[in-house]
Amino acid sequence: MADLFTPLSVGPFDLPHRVVMAPMTRNRAGDGNAPHTLNATYYQQRSDAAFIITEATQICPEGMGYPGTPGIHSNAQIDGWREVTDAVHEAGGRIILQMWHVGRISHPDLQPDGRDPVAPSAIQPAGEAMTLSGMKPFVTPRALEAAEIEDLVEQYRVAAKNADMAGFDGVEVHGANGYLLDQFTRDSTNARDDEYGGSVENRCRFPLAVTDAVVDVWGPERVGYRISPFQPYNDISDSDPVATFTYLATELAKRDLLYLHMVELGDTRGGGSFQDSRDPLFADLRNIWPNTLITNGGYDRAMSDAVIDAGLADMVAFGAPYLANPDLPERLLTGAAYNDQDRATFYGGAAAGYTDYSALGPALDPAPGQ
Ligand SMILES: Cc1cc2nc3c(=O)[nH]c(=O)nc-3n(C[C@H](O)[C@H](O)[C@H](O)COP(=O)(O)O)c2cc1C
Repeated sequence: MADLFTPLSVGPFDLPHRVVMAPMTRNRAGDGNAPHTLNATYYQQRSDAAFIITEATQICPEGMGYPGTPGIHSNAQIDGWREVTDAVHEAGGRIILQMWHVGRISHPDLQPDGRDPVAPSAIQPAGEAMTLSGMKPFVTPRALEAAEIEDLVEQYRVAAKNADMAGFDGVEVHGANGYLLDQFTRDSTNARDDEYGGSVENRCRFPLAVTDAVVDVWGPERVGYRISPFQPYNDISDSDPVATFTYLATELAKRDLLYLHMVELGDTRGGGSFQDSRDPLFADLRNIWPNTLITNGGYDRAMSDAVIDAGLADMVAFGAPYLANPDLPERLLTGAAYNDQDRATFYGGAAAGYTDYSALGPALDPAPGQ
């Protein structure tokens, strides 16, 4: 009977347990959107994770949608990330870069030369962008030309090479949470009538081309993909999410990736049964996806053990709990209480609420880095 602490061999990795640190934007990159020592300290403190998945990281300047998020498109950013990956490896951890383009979830204030953000279609999102001068309503984005989409695939390829130079152990393609790849995939944000819109095959063409470009650089055994089929976050939806994501997952499965990372629907926090809140897709996904499946969304220890024991997922990613507990695997193992989360310091600031959450004591023996 497997549980959260049953070791796991996946691709080139021998993992001591199945606790993953979920990607979390913390808006604390330094000058030029480059990571720096503070970020290296934060990630190193969390090196006991089976995998650290980094905060979302823009692949190009146009991919940015919030202040202070890191990039992976300049030499300074590569150097900054190298400091982070060295720190994590020194502590025995494994770190995967989440590759990001926000698409329409941006604002001219955050774009090069104040241009409009780009998207599959000129459909304005409801809500507000976080800019350097406060929250401002989202604007109507400019629809990408087909040639620009091909260009973006190449930008993802270059960013994947940069991630390799920065010393990561792998990369995760961010296909979730209403950002650019999700905007192509789901039909509320994609009204294109060319080969990138309309049918589900066409809507998945760009996300799959990005995946192929990244796999060219890394090999499939070091590439993951994140989806959130039912999440409405960032004003997005799909008229038939089961069909859309069944197709996408089936196509991704043909590529034999390291993992599929699923953000579940809704808030399952509070010790409920994972069965109460599961996505309609969840059980089927297990049949579609033969490789490692990471699930995420409000999990605690009991729910994690249950979902793994049921064979519905192989690993569980923890977001907010990991932010506030640098030694989360140890706390999950021993049942020790969590630190309180300070929501006021989630996004932006410096060390407070970032590197000053306390650990209990000596950490778990880290597994050898690889
Ligand atoms: C502060 C914060 C920042 C986040 N940033 C990202 C991100 O950069 N990329 C992403 O895919 N999800 C992001 N998420 C979502 C988390 O990865 C995760 O899906 C969510 O927190 C649910 O998991 P949890 O209930 O264990 O916290 C963020 C969540 C939080 C709390």
